[in-house]
Amino acid sequence: MRSWATAIAGLLAGLCAAGPVAAAGDAAKGGEIAKLHCTRCHVVGDFNRMGGIESTPSFQLLVNAFEDYQDRFASFYLRRPHGLVIEIKDTPRLTDLPDNAHRITLTLDDVENIAAFAATLKK
Ligand code: HEC
Repeated sequence: MRSWATAIAGLLAGLCAAGPVAAAGDAAKGGEIAKLHCTRCHVVGDFNRMGGIESTPSFQLLVNAFEDYQDRFASFYLRRPHGLVIEIKDTPRLTDLPDNAHRITLTLDDVENIAAFAATLKK
């Protein structure tokens, strides 16, 4: 299971390095999805500047501090702590642990749209 997930992450990272994955997404849709689901923990935009959970990096920080932010957004669901709460349709769950919060279910298209939205936060 783990190596499968790693392979997907590598594939996504490779696609992102080539550029087209994020550009292919719909930033407006991605923004809506992020507003709905990611604000539970992250500051996502000006509309929730005082929101999120303190120890969680804001999207603005991630996008502007990390050159590889597109890779991170394309594979966030494989990165801790997301596997505990976020599930991507048609991909195996990363853990058998019971949900520790209300589960968020997304599609790979959603992930692409969010990555496109993230690009709009770049200063
Ligand atoms: C349950 C809380 C929670 C939710 C919900 C959540 N995140 Fe996160 N996210 C975190 C935390 C905590 C970190 C920092 C992890 C770390 O630094 O080890 C993080 C880090 C990230 C990172 C950087 C990962 C890395 O390894 O650099 C990205 C990208 C990300 N989140 C995207 C998202 C997106 C997109 C959503 C919504 C679909 C989302 N997150 C929803 C808690 C959450």
